[in-house]
Amino acid sequence: ISVETEVTTNGASPDTSTVEPEKLNILFGSHTGNSEALAENLANLAKERGIEVEVSDMASFKTRDFKKIKKLAVIVSTHGLGEPPVQAEDLYTYLHGKRAPDLSHIQFSVLGLGDSSYVDFCQTGKDFDAILEILGATRMTPRQDCDVDYEDDAETWQNALVDAISKKSGETSHIQSPANEIAPTTGTKYSRKNLFEATILEKINLNGTGSSKETMHLELDLQGSGITYEPGDALGVYGANSPKLIKAVLEKTNLSGEKRVVSHNGEKTLLEALTYDYELTPLSKVSLTKYAEITDNPRLKKILGDNTAVLEYLPGRDILDLLSEEPHKFSPDELISVLRKNTPRMYSIASSQEAVDEEVHLLVSVVRYNAFGRDKEGHCSSTLADRLEVDDKVKIFVDKNTRFKLPENPDAPIIMVGPGTGIAPFRAFMQHREVAEKKGPSWLFFGDRNFTTDFLYQTEWQQYLKEGVLTKADVAFSRDQTEKDYVQHRMLENGKELYDWLENGAHFYVCGDAQKMAKDVDIALKQIIQEQGGVTLEKAEDYVKKLQLANRYQADIY
Ligand code: 2AM
Repeated sequence: ISVETEVTTNGASPDTSTVEPEKLNILFGSHTGNSEALAENLANLAKERGIEVEVSDMASFKTRDFKKIKKLAVIVSTHGLGEPPVQAEDLYTYLHGKRAPDLSHIQFSVLGLGDSSYVDFCQTGKDFDAILEILGATRMTPRQDCDVDYEDDAETWQNALVDAISKKSGETSHIQSPANEIAPTTGTKYSRKNLFEATILEKINLNGTGSSKETMHLELDLQGSGITYEPGDALGVYGANSPKLIKAVLEKTNLSGEKRVVSHNGEKTLLEALTYDYELTPLSKVSLTKYAEITDNPRLKKILGDNTAVLEYLPGRDILDLLSEEPHKFSPDELISVLRKNTPRMYSIASSQEAVDEEVHLLVSVVRYNAFGRDKEGHCSSTLADRLEVDDKVKIFVDKNTRFKLPENPDAPIIMVGPGTGIAPFRAFMQHREVAEKKGPSWLFFGDRNFTTDFLYQTEWQQYLKEGVLTKADVAFSRDQTEKDYVQHRMLENGKELYDWLENGAHFYVCGDAQKMAKDVDIALKQIIQEQGGVTLEKAEDYVKKLQLANRYQADIY
């Protein structure tokens, strides 16, 4: 929206605002840097409209400053499991605690970022929105929850908010400017909203024959795109639904794929819309809710009334299961209205441009399982594994992650914990450090199921060790023996040395599974600090918190 449109509601000239608009405080709680970027964006827009702004990170915000705030915009992301980002934790706890202040002098609005494939979608945003109201603050504009493709919704929210503030101050003009545009300027015409179609150059299953896993290494061509990225960034990839599943859905609903529908991408056939514009798997809570509303189904409504029941119902199910269990005669447009918009999957980039130049490498775990009587597969991973081959094109964009970066000081030691596909960004780190003039020590902890079939990029790690790019590597293969052997066991065995590294300024990185692994690794880290530092658990937790706030403990977990 870079057109300079001018909407004058009562004939007043655009630059004659009557009252100075009150200052807008923007508080962000960022997980990968997207909330921070959106905060900056809102600040620019507000400034262009003559509103004074102050942007603060929740991590460093002084709660006594609430007294001075009159207008507050909160932009906060949610971890997959419904938790606030580390940077937002203290403020979150403070507002929910006994010492929470009276905020009746504040007017606010909340923008939540999240992923609607999780049940606790945008939970942190919802919590901030609710607690601010409980503490007496008044809502200026409604909360907006944003999915992974957040740009349009975020733009709508920020425009509405800035409009509301300008109106209150008597300003009557609405000048839309390029500042409204959410997409970051990166010196390329490609962005989240203008996707690049990258050609697949290489595709290999890294797991050996007989492995219980399928992990794809992909190399994509960025030539001519001008797209750049840094180690730690992620790549957004769009998948397409499997023709088999589409056919089954059409059969089940008795609809013809030739019927015309109006999708969010314009008018087209139902078949086209079901192939690319919407997702058929997995089933999300949002879809279940819409399904229950349209079908007015008491059983589904009952499930939706109880979060535990929802958490039991969703896993393993897709839209076809729902159509089978609770049949309904949908019109084509009704059917697509239930479905989640095709949403990109984010994969941590496995390469550094220092090494691969105009290419980007990915490591993708192929999701396959059997549930409710059918073989099922992941929406995007199966697109890459089964439906796209070398020379085919795939739509992508770079998702910057400012919260998962190599230390600014190239000499700083790094500790990398990345079992399974969690290894991806560390391959990028090593590629980056291999060509760097100065490099500090690096230590890798890797784990997977079986040594002979699942040691991802084994020869590369061996080469890095030989060259001295990698100082130390410890591995844990969980299924080579009866007892589970995990990365955190290697950490604990090396507790003294690991603690020494931390004391010597090491940065600690963890990437991979959020549900169990990252939690267990966090527990192990605290245990090591407790034992080696001879301190209480509380002190160890403080130590870890300090590491986090100094960006020396970074997590890319999913
Ligand atoms: P498992 O599947 O045999 O339990 C990559 O997926 C590797 O991470 C696998 O070896 C997997 O082991 C392991 N893993 C699973 N849960 C883990 C946990 N809680 N902590 C560390 N590693 C874990």
